[in-house]
Amino acid sequence: MNQRTESAKLQPQAEMKLDLEAIDRARNDIEDGAVTPSAGPWVQQIIGFLNDSLATELVCVLRYRRHHFTAAGLASPAIAAEFLEHANAELSHADRIAERIVQLGGEPDFRPSGLEKRSHAEYDDSKDIRAMLRANLVAERVAIETYRQLIRMIGDKDPTTRRLLEDVLADEEEHADELKDILSR
Ligand SMILES: [Fe+2]
Ligand SMILES: [Fe+2]
Repeated sequence: MNQRTESAKLQPQAEMKLDLEAIDRARNDIEDGAVTPSAGPWVQQIIGFLNDSLATELVCVLRYRRHHFTAAGLASPAIAAEFLEHANAELSHADRIAERIVQLGGEPDFRPSGLEKRSHAEYDDSKDIRAMLRANLVAERVAIETYRQLIRMIGDKDPTTRRLLEDVLADEEEHADELKDILSR
């Protein structure tokens, strides 16, 4: 028997137990909708983080749309089309995040004032296509790092939000990869 199995054997197995009292409370506070007791302590913080992410996605929609309509140059039609595709993906991220905020009993913040301040990523109105590509790659990398940190922080505190952010993260990684490919041509 190796050391590992031996030490595993010595550890008394912790008993897994459901919190029946919390399950009972879930029967009651029905006005909380999908938010049940075990979600409770983290919900407000998660809503706050999601609202910052919503602002980030909205700024990305605006930046990519601005780039889509102003991209000019040799390879620009294909790149402009790519920018529009990304803009639409960011909009669907914004929609999914807003929907989750409401499910959690919060209010999605779509106020234009302060939008850029709430966002993790920056707006950009470069004229040059390479500068646009670079600005978008930077923004994607900022989003990727933020979502990675959020996913780690949320862990098992809110599996549904975590799964949503994992989906969004996968899209942002694809975006960053595409931008990097175009830039290295
Ligand atoms: Fe996004
Ligand atoms: Fe993206």
